[in-house]
Amino acid sequence: MKRVLVINGPNLNLLGTREKSIYGEKTLADIENMLKEEADKLGIEIGFFQSNHEGYIIDKIHDARGKFDYIIINPGAYTHYSIAIRDAIKAVEIPTIEVHLSNIYSREEFREKSVIAPVCVGQISGLGSTGYLLALKAVCML
Ligand code: DQA
Repeated sequence: MKRVLVINGPNLNLLGTREKSIYGEKTLADIENMLKEEADKLGIEIGFFQSNHEGYIIDKIHDARGKFDYIIINPGAYTHYSIAIRDAIKAVEIPTIEVHLSNIYSREEFREKSVIAPVCVGQISGLGSTGYLLALKAVCML
């Protein structure tokens, strides 16, 4: 059975109330429940983690060694500047998929750069919560 850890970074705990026209109506709990349901159907073991703190996210990535086979991560704003999260993903060698609810290439210029993407297997951006589902399905095919 494949084991997948879904990590959400800063401010994603506010989904459902935060800039709904950009990030949608679903809460993080809604998204996690949807993923759990899909994971059960796909026969995937799934775990969830959200933090607003860079160090806690790094600790979780380190802790995933030997416990999870894949990571799906939405690093929030850390996407654009956290070399430390990038290095953690690279260090643990767990295949990782980067997900963004919004299309980071169609917004402010500072969002166009992801320092995380080069150490990921792939990136899904702009498909809302469906992006997490697609990432989970992709895990089955990796
Ligand atoms: C985001 C995009 C980031 O630029 C932003 O800082 C977020 C959410 C997304 O899911 O679209 O917090 O990662």
